[in-house]
Amino acid sequence: MVPELEKPTVRILRPERVLGIIRAIKEQGSSKLQVISDFDMTLSRFGCNGRRCPTSHNILDNSRVVSEDGKKKLKDLLHYYYPIEIDPNRTLEEKRPLMVEWWTRAHDLLSQQKIQKGDIAQIVRESDVMLRDGFNELFDQLYKYNVPIFIFSAGIGDVLEEIIRQANVFYSNVNVVSNYMDFDDSGVLKCFKGPLIHTYNKNNSVLQGTEYFQQLSGRTSIILLGDSMGDLTMADGVPSVENILKIGFLNDKVEERRGKYLDSYDIVLESDETLDVVNGILRYIL
Ligand code: C5P
Ligand code: MG
Repeated sequence: MVPELEKPTVRILRPERVLGIIRAIKEQGSSKLQVISDFDMTLSRFGCNGRRCPTSHNILDNSRVVSEDGKKKLKDLLHYYYPIEIDPNRTLEEKRPLMVEWWTRAHDLLSQQKIQKGDIAQIVRESDVMLRDGFNELFDQLYKYNVPIFIFSAGIGDVLEEIIRQANVFYSNVNVVSNYMDFDDSGVLKCFKGPLIHTYNKNNSVLQGTEYFQQLSGRTSIILLGDSMGDLTMADGVPSVENILKIGFLNDKVEERRGKYLDSYDIVLESDETLDVVNGILRYIL
């Protein structure tokens, strides 16, 4: 059915159930399908040649427009809060206020750097960001079959939009909800627009007023792509879900987190920097 599911990076707890969901989505057809995806470390790569790739935040953190002092403070925040973000032994309730703290402190620091709106394209061009192998096929297939893709990101919207624009895949079926920058009249970053989206509030609470899922209420088949336990709630605002297939990229601390990922995601992709499995499933469905 989907030969890519035989890749050694694929782990599935209930294979029969997964095949059943894929068959059901195919039966419903492309007019009932929508894709909901995280951005950082899901559509973008986690690593390349043993080196970490940047998140949309890191792209700015590491760029020439941030002072040395700002860089150090942002790196200190990352080193303190990232282990908390991915810790399988802490509850979401414990993590939530700490994530708000991280994002708030990082956004405050970035907002002090006089970042110019007009510099973002060049900053992205100069960064080490990479989309996962196969991104072209993913976006092309979805566009060709009129399947909407909703990118729900706790990263920085202005930066991630520029990444997909530079990759030439920002098609009309791509919609983004994320943290957007607020610039003053002269185009200098002054703050971030609300509501703040962090790893563990990616649910309906931050989509109030968007009406996005209501407009797509006929699309009851969902493919959800994420890399964090916080991404599992991204489809909670969909009014009626008939079939949902959750695909999780397990990038970091694979051994420690495997159990939780296998329990929550239908398909777990371990240290797989490609979109092969997603593309294989879509090729079968569409
Ligand atoms: O797009 P996504 O929801 O994955 O973006 C959030 C990611 O950005 C988090 O997983 C977090 O590790 C990372 N992050 C960061 N720097 C920050 C805040 C979050 O790299 N200041
Ligand atoms: Mg992510």
